[in-house]
Amino acid sequence: MTKVKGTRPCAIVGNWKMHKTIDDAVQFARALLPLIQKASSLTYIAPPFTAIQAMVAAFKDSLVRVGAQNMNDATEGAFTGEIAAPMLKEVGAQFVILGHSERRLFFGEDNAFINRKVVKALSESLQPIVCIGETLEEYEAGETRQRLKCQLEESLAGISPESLSSLVLAYEPIWAIGTGITATPGQAQEAHHYCREVLAELWGQTIADQTMILYGGSVRPDNTRALLDQEDIDGVLVGGASLSVNSFAQIINA
Ligand code: PGA
Repeated sequence: MTKVKGTRPCAIVGNWKMHKTIDDAVQFARALLPLIQKASSLTYIAPPFTAIQAMVAAFKDSLVRVGAQNMNDATEGAFTGEIAAPMLKEVGAQFVILGHSERRLFFGEDNAFINRKVVKALSESLQPIVCIGETLEEYEAGETRQRLKCQLEESLAGISPESLSSLVLAYEPIWAIGTGITATPGQAQEAHHYCREVLAELWGQTIADQTMILYGGSVRPDNTRALLDQEDIDGVLVGGASLSVNSFAQIINA
């Protein structure tokens, strides 16, 4: 597996969570573009739903992809407060983050629900970025591997190898999200490598070698390079540090 890293693209994903108005988002886009002209990685930004359309317009003619932070698995229906894949497509979203730990924790999303969303996103040609990761208790109890395996098996159940090739995974240890505590590059690498072992076991070595796996959890400009240098880390999913143009640009250019 050690020879294939260079064959996978590198992606930097900004997850804005519940931050920024349309105005803020458009100003951000205008300020960011000139700073990332020479970047070799793919850049993705997931603003709140309300800013997606304006961001798509602001990043027109650039390589920056704009997407959503969540969606429902139904096409339409009586689901107050939810948003459907065709609605995201209509405003130009290209990808969707699914199974973020804040969705799992605060909104009770389980692997089965996330699996239905992954299936739906793939069927609508929205690229899923599927988040997995263990809690602090699981980490301290040495249960990281069991947790990751279970999340991979259940949230990706029934997905064909062909579909998996367009999906991105994000390993985000919950104890590192928004806490300022980053997994060390070694810890993150070990978890990423394990995810590839599970992918190889379930879908075969080619899929394991091809799948992009990002790291998320307190990523900052000063720790990005060391994470990206790891063999099995193909990019980063950034929360807090993606809200400032300068720090996000530094991460993209790292
Ligand atoms: P953080 O968030 O970078 O603020 O820790 C990461 C995430 O939630 O995806």
